[in-house]
Amino acid sequence: MKVLIIGSGGREHAIAASVAKSSRVDKIYCAPGNAGIGQIAECVPIGAMEFDKLVAFAKENQIDLTIIGMDDPLVGGVVDAFEAEGLRVFGPNKAAAILEGSKAFSKDLMKKYNIPTAAYETFDDPEKALEYLKTAKMPIVLKADGLALGKGVLICNTLEEAEAGVKEIMMDKKFGSAGNHMVIEEFMTGREVSVLSFVDGKTIKIMSSAQDHKRAKDGDQGLNTGGMGTFSPSPFYTKEVDEFCKKYVFQATVDAMAAEGRTFKGIIFFGLMLTEDGPKVLEYNARFGDPEAQVVLPRMKNDVIDVMEACIDGTLDQIDLQFEDNAAVCVVLASDGYPVSYEKGFEIKGLENFEDKDGYYCFHAGSKLNEEGKIVTNGGRVLGVTAKGADLKEARANAYAATEWIDFANKYMRHDIGKAIDEA
Ligand code: AMP
Ligand code: GLY
Repeated sequence: MKVLIIGSGGREHAIAASVAKSSRVDKIYCAPGNAGIGQIAECVPIGAMEFDKLVAFAKENQIDLTIIGMDDPLVGGVVDAFEAEGLRVFGPNKAAAILEGSKAFSKDLMKKYNIPTAAYETFDDPEKALEYLKTAKMPIVLKADGLALGKGVLICNTLEEAEAGVKEIMMDKKFGSAGNHMVIEEFMTGREVSVLSFVDGKTIKIMSSAQDHKRAKDGDQGLNTGGMGTFSPSPFYTKEVDEFCKKYVFQATVDAMAAEGRTFKGIIFFGLMLTEDGPKVLEYNARFGDPEAQVVLPRMKNDVIDVMEACIDGTLDQIDLQFEDNAAVCVVLASDGYPVSYEKGFEIKGLENFEDKDGYYCFHAGSKLNEEGKIVTNGGRVLGVTAKGADLKEARANAYAATEWIDFANKYMRHDIGKAIDEA
């Protein structure tokens, strides 16, 4: 069969690598893709938000299955555009993708269906938000309602910071129309865990857990980024936590969406915080995490196409989802200066070191082929270097060894990805 993947990051490279392992797949296209994806798929120069062109391409090329990697097209209704033409597509439709697209929606859903999350209020009037802050406990968390490239969350330690934050989000519209509404919520402390799942509208199957490292610098210092590295499984995702979430979070979310007439098919990413009062949902995403996908998918034993088709067909209950009994660590190689400003266009050397090395992967996030046919840096997050190991410590040692195989002019990475496992 022929498969089209929509997106251009490390996550889409990891999806493409999984799809390439399927014996059922003859040809993979990726729109728009990147230089690494181009080694296993044919990249098509169509943007992820160009729905008409994507649909036309899928029809002309008789694509059997389209997989949406990114959040923006999902929230914008790309699945509806494909389904309207009778095309098979993996991902939630627009009505369901609101689970990620609106934080106010997801918070109200959790409240209505008793799914544990931080206490909160929603506002569409900045004056009311400022009034509310006067009596609120600090620190406090401000969230722009809509998609804001993962940047619409402000953690404020003082009333002054929080007031300035409300002005930035709602009045100066720093995150655009995402700031028309906002959520103000209780600050929680605890360890974060990412749990990805496949959902077919009624059945949910949980993937192996992972942990991201969102801050730019070692010791969780510096600015928030898209994610600087991940490990899987998380030793903090214990049997007890799993039982709690199975009882109060996972199926409850799927059933709540169905009850709201927003049947969810695709990936639900649960961003959990393990607080003293038990696990609570920080956020939902409607797609694979990036770079969580780079450590979770390589450990999945199933044929990913079988699982995705079962989600579309509502037969996920018949799938026995299985993961390898090992571990994986992904270290992101970024351009120095990310997430603020950085140079790009530097040649990436050493990629050939990953060829034919079992258990090692170099997923491209921001790379491109230049006019001379060389692979050069083309973004803040450039590569995700993933390695497996018998356990987390071995996987971490392998991943960091493999980061040395790659060289480019302004290569930057965190040196403490997976350090938390020493405390487990
Ligand atoms: P989100 O996009 O909602 O996941 O928020 C981004 C990051 O902000 C999370 O990964 C947490 O580290 C942090 N965060 C979000 N909400 C809270 C909260 N209520 N308390 C503490 N930290 C939070
Ligand atoms: N790694 C977090 C995310 O994909 O949103």
